[in-house]
Amino acid sequence: MTALTDTLRQICGAAHVLTHEDPTTDLSAWELDWRKRIRGRALAVVRPGSTTEVAAVVKACAALKTSIVPQGGNTGLVVGGVPDASGTQIVLSLGRMQAVRAIDPANLTITVEAGCVLQNLQAAAEAAGFLFPLSLGAEGSCTIGGNLGTNAGGTQVVRYGNTRELCLGLEVVNAQGEIWHGLTGLRKDNTGYDLRNLMIGSEGTLGVITAATLKLYPQPAAQLTAWAAVPSMQAAVDLLGLAHQRLGPGLTGFEVMGQFALSLVDKHYPQLRVPLWKETPWCVLLENSDSENEAHARGQFESLLEAALDAGCVTDAVVAENLTQARGLWHIRESITLAQAEEGLNIKHDISIPVSRIPDFVAETDALLAQHIPGVRLVDFGHLGDGNLHYNVQVPEGADGQAFLRDCEDQVNTLVFDQVKRFEGSISAEHGVGELKVGKLPLYKDPTALAMMRAVKKALDPHNIMNPGRVLG
Ligand code: FAD
Ligand code: MLT
Ligand code: ZN
Repeated sequence: MTALTDTLRQICGAAHVLTHEDPTTDLSAWELDWRKRIRGRALAVVRPGSTTEVAAVVKACAALKTSIVPQGGNTGLVVGGVPDASGTQIVLSLGRMQAVRAIDPANLTITVEAGCVLQNLQAAAEAAGFLFPLSLGAEGSCTIGGNLGTNAGGTQVVRYGNTRELCLGLEVVNAQGEIWHGLTGLRKDNTGYDLRNLMIGSEGTLGVITAATLKLYPQPAAQLTAWAAVPSMQAAVDLLGLAHQRLGPGLTGFEVMGQFALSLVDKHYPQLRVPLWKETPWCVLLENSDSENEAHARGQFESLLEAALDAGCVTDAVVAENLTQARGLWHIRESITLAQAEEGLNIKHDISIPVSRIPDFVAETDALLAQHIPGVRLVDFGHLGDGNLHYNVQVPEGADGQAFLRDCEDQVNTLVFDQVKRFEGSISAEHGVGELKVGKLPLYKDPTALAMMRAVKKALDPHNIMNPGRVLG
């Protein structure tokens, strides 16, 4: 037992400080990243039960310059929430801090602790008669602290924005172990620099988010889902334009899925019965959330799809008859990541490009990849409504996955990111930088912006104890 782990046990209780002192203790849940690409080794996994305990843990670590990796549900996809292999870092898991602290119906806000699982937060909002719209495939295990840490996007961004836009106030423990009491529910506050927005998306490198005040929305009167076959990416973009025109703010989801991505779902989860995918290169999933009633929503959807069929941007479509069918269609979309993992190793991208330029980006980049990487298999899908594509690359059929990643990952990333730059996009629209893209950021981020980021990091965390090696390297 080290002096530090001893102190941490005094702060949080012995049961909430897990170490390798007992060789039979399995810390994989905290040390292995979701994609199983990196297994780190922690000095200890610490699970504080309150903000005061988090502050005391950070103070104890800061005194010894021991670095801290904040962790929520460990569903991150860029190796940002697991420790490195040194055995010297503390994983600070927020998993025990799950309370819903307050709901203010008139102010349309909910205040929750960072370790609250997203699905439980959605359920708490629903039980109070409201909607908390953040929604993503990992919602059964990711936490709101991790969502804020990564500024997560998901499938409702086209209407409600990403996590940053859903957050009004934060409680944060800074790198010195002091508590910033910023849990405001104000929608307007111009009293200086926006520290809330600085913390959101900082991937645990500036402090630990312990609680947040978030926006609530009225529940829609009706929600309908449609699945459309489209003949090209340009047709999908045209359909998006029509959907904006016809549905206005009712358009709450617009996801595109390529044929190969859907073939993987069909292969690994045949029970999900993917519709229409065999006859078309792309499918689109649309959601219409209506403030009137189901008949109105259905009428709007039918007229949109008729116009799209006439315009040639849709060749076939199904509208879910009921909630079970709608959930089934969303489940197919959300199973693509899992099907890709079942298929084997892959290279993930979460790029964004102006929507209007996506068809040209995809055509050109597909051709470049095919030319340079024989047998390349592209798993294209994502949040087309936000200009955010998961332009993923699956290891060629029959190839050795580890060898492919070793030999080709950097080449694939460079090729895709150079294209992203040419098309004025971002190399990360959702998952963040973590450790995986840390070497690439200086090549694609504006140098002045990067220098300002380094200055902020140095000012707030001068000893570099908060998640070192992530985002800024
Ligand atoms: P973790 O993985 O534990 O941590 C992620 C990062 O946040 C780390 O850098 C960590 O240090 C930091 N962090 C965690 N908690 C805190 C805290 N309290 N304070 C400060 N920093 C903290 N992401 C999307 O954006 N959109 C999607 O649609 C999406 N779909 C996904 C689907 C699947 C099947 C999976 C596995 C992942 C998906 N993700 C998606 C990625 C992931 O779920 C999100 O990044 C999520 O926000 C991470 O939450 P988490 O609690 O698991 O965080
Ligand atoms: C999703 O939108 O499902 C995830 O962000 C995508 C991924 O696995 O790349
Ligand atoms: Zn996504």
